[in-house]
Amino acid sequence: MFSMLLMTFGQWTTHDVTLTPITPITHSYNSSTHCVQTCARTAPCFPIEIPHGDPRLSRGKCMPFVRSSTACTGGQVRQQINAITAFLDMGPVYGADHMKVMQMRDIDSNKGLLKVNKEYDDKGRELMHFGPMTNNVCATRRHMTGDANAKEVPCFVGGDVRSNENIALTALHTLMLREHNRLARKLSNLNPHWDGERLYQEARKILGGMSQVITYRDYLGFIVGPDAMAKRLSVYPGYDSEVNPGISNVFATAALRFGHLTIQPYVFRLDKNYEEHPDYPSPLLHKAFFAPWRVVFEGGVDPILRGLIGRPAKLNTQEHMAPDEIREKLFKFSEDLALDLASLNMQRGRDHGLPGYNAWRKFCGLSQPSNMYELGKVLRNYQMAQRLMMLYKTPDNIDVWLGVWPSPLWPGAEWGRCSPASSPTSSGGFNRATDCGGRTTVCSQSVRKGHCGTSPLRGSFVTTPASRRSRSSPSGSAHGAPATAPVRISRRWTCP
Ligand code: HEM
Repeated sequence: MFSMLLMTFGQWTTHDVTLTPITPITHSYNSSTHCVQTCARTAPCFPIEIPHGDPRLSRGKCMPFVRSSTACTGGQVRQQINAITAFLDMGPVYGADHMKVMQMRDIDSNKGLLKVNKEYDDKGRELMHFGPMTNNVCATRRHMTGDANAKEVPCFVGGDVRSNENIALTALHTLMLREHNRLARKLSNLNPHWDGERLYQEARKILGGMSQVITYRDYLGFIVGPDAMAKRLSVYPGYDSEVNPGISNVFATAALRFGHLTIQPYVFRLDKNYEEHPDYPSPLLHKAFFAPWRVVFEGGVDPILRGLIGRPAKLNTQEHMAPDEIREKLFKFSEDLALDLASLNMQRGRDHGLPGYNAWRKFCGLSQPSNMYELGKVLRNYQMAQRLMMLYKTPDNIDVWLGVWPSPLWPGAEWGRCSPASSPTSSGGFNRATDCGGRTTVCSQSVRKGHCGTSPLRGSFVTTPASRRSRSSPSGSAHGAPATAPVRISRRWTCP
């Protein structure tokens, strides 16, 4: 059994390495109708039809979906962008570009600190600073509580734009912000001659190293299992300037999204005895999206952090893959129409042109079931195979995000499976990085050797813009982020 922290730390890690932006224009290029108002698939709108009988139909026939931004690669194949650095460098704390980095820093103090909230604190402890009150997606309190006079607060500002997405994630952001400031203060005590710049960089370096250690030593083993760890994520092969440290498309668009199956329907809030908090009960997840006011007015981050370590993550089973909180009520209080995360994942895969289930199985050297019987054998579940065949007609068409999760696990792995989950993904996404300053990843060797050209990966890499790549250096990540100790990771990501 794993704690809820497995889920939220996974989301945290995700937000450190990948952010695939949608197109800046969210109106149809043809009709100038906004994508939320049309069922027409006219670029960049790519709406998802809502089936008859769905309670959402009263609000509209389609779930809005805007296609991902494209990269100007000059090639024939549409490519998507990673808007943040693919390095495991505590981007959610510090930001991934200069403007954001400066927005997060408390330059005035000259003590190397990050900005904190001036209006509120958490029993004397720091909270993140606020953004603007205009266009405030975090003004959800009145709607959620039904109290028309309730005081709203703006969103917190994190190094990553998704810091308010749910309050458990916000709690981790707050914890990491405090840790930076704690480190900077300690360093200042030890080195009174250091100026603010030095204190900031040194504290950032330590926190970056801590995050890498936690990820590679403590987290990834639970995800990919001891075998994949030993085979693919164990030995650091040394710096290789030829490695492209970007994130592969299938990793961001399918594999790393395994975490959506670990989401519980509640954000748990516990008291000091790790019992349900008497004053601040655990909200349903849909009442915890974009709700920084719950942190400000409902007991701060401690009850949430206790919930993360004191309650289990959801176990993925074939019968219970995703709770209704994310399938029926995603962002219910901040969007016009509640969304469905599973549908978004599959539509995003289609938007990015990810090959289907069998193409990935082939890539991994596995059998490619061609009928219901063979699929049932692979899934060890003939009923599920029948349902999938009714929907997809052939296993070839099954969306890869959906297809891999009901598959039986490899021994020892919680999540590792061959197909996007284990090789090019779960462990793959974290091993390809290798060098490049000792942190993360992408399609290193395999791409350069043309491996991807002969695999379903062709044309499916999220590209890191050249401007970012050129700024990475052997001793530090892009954007002048400080160097941290190399992570011990290997470079191969073929299937065993
Ligand atoms: C309450 C928890 C979570 C919520 C509400 C959530 C929600 C979302 C949403 C709305 C998207 C964008 C969907 C799209 O339009 O394509 C997304 C993307 C993603 N999520 Fe989650 N997520 C959660 C937890 C997690 C976890 C635990 C992981 C991994 C361990 C994860 C991994 C990802 C990845 C890799 C992406 C793609 C990121 C990108 O490249 O932009 N998420 N998530």
